[in-house]
Amino acid sequence: MIVSPVFVAGHGGMVGSAVCRRLATMPDIEVMTRSRGELDLCEESQVNDFFSKNRPATVIFASAKVGGIHANKTFPVEFLTDNLRQELATVHASFRNGVGRFLFLGSTCIYPRLAKQPIKEDELLASPLEQTNEAYAIAKIAGLKLCQYFRQQYGVLYHSAMPTNLYGPGDNYHPDHSHVLPGMIRRIHEAKERGDASVTIWGTGTPLREFLHVDDLADAILHLCHLDSPPDWVNVGTSLDVSIFELARLVAKTIGFQGEIRTDPSKPDGTPRKLTDTTLIRSTGWEPKIELEQGIVSTYQCFLKEQDSGKLRSK
Ligand SMILES: NC(=O)c1ccc[n+]([C@@H]2O[C@H](COP(=O)([O-])OP(=O)(O)OC[C@H]3O[C@@H](n4cnc5c(N)ncnc54)[C@H](OP(=O)(O)O)[C@@H]3O)[C@@H](O)[C@H]2O)c1
Repeated sequence: MIVSPVFVAGHGGMVGSAVCRRLATMPDIEVMTRSRGELDLCEESQVNDFFSKNRPATVIFASAKVGGIHANKTFPVEFLTDNLRQELATVHASFRNGVGRFLFLGSTCIYPRLAKQPIKEDELLASPLEQTNEAYAIAKIAGLKLCQYFRQQYGVLYHSAMPTNLYGPGDNYHPDHSHVLPGMIRRIHEAKERGDASVTIWGTGTPLREFLHVDDLADAILHLCHLDSPPDWVNVGTSLDVSIFELARLVAKTIGFQGEIRTDPSKPDGTPRKLTDTTLIRSTGWEPKIELEQGIVSTYQCFLKEQDSGKLRSK
């Protein structure tokens, strides 16, 4: 059972807003949100003040300093420090103020660089991390472990979800720094608008990747918050993968781009396959509902709406 009131940290982000949309369908739940201007989660005194005055019963922690490879490589100090500060402040303030359930957001990108595929939960910390986002991964692993230790030492239900690559409403469409799927939606949309005869995707198009609609993640988060004995951390994904070329084909079909899709093998491919094993979460009774093709259609509609209303995220 989800105990109200629920504080959704990072409610303005892609994950936080999906969780809030889902909670809004649950009439008995009071949801608390604060913008960064009202509550900077890195500031311990502000966090303590917020928790002691407002006393949430449940916390869903969807706040983080996130960024692409370039930002992660250039600013490791900020990625480590900002994430550690907000996790430490929020988990400790939660415990001191009687929060019984804390759901922390990890990510499959914090598994080791050469994790065995499909990735099972016990791959965490089993071998060296990916260098490009090491600082972010260390901070996230610390947050996840802090939740595990609080649960182990004090018996509170603090636990984590490890989502795969996400997409959906509120995604970031920065031309250079966005994730693969929103980046493709933007580039293929712009190619269609310009009437280009072709569009080029990076690499050979052969790497296989997995994508989960953020509304499915929100559903999984609330499912996990209902469990009396959830896993300390659990993968959330589809366990289905698609090649980058096939993904581009699906996006082009959705957008109505009829030009040629070209590959550029001179650009790096990254790891050939990244897939999560979702046996554990499925064993608790959850499974994803939104198929990729259908999810891309609805996400493209959101992209157009966000663009028309001037709310497209592109930073
Ligand atoms: N997106 C994915 O594909 C993906 C995949 C796996 C896991 N995840 C995990 O899911 C979580 C949320 O990701 P997301 O994609 O939703 O990120 P996002 O869209 O960037 O949202 C992050 C939110 O956190 C807020 N925030 C950051 N620092 C803050 C601070 N110091 N004080 C208050 N608020 C702060 C941001 O506020 P501002 O708007 O003010 O910056 C934003 O609302 C992260 O832990 C991420 O690792 C994401």
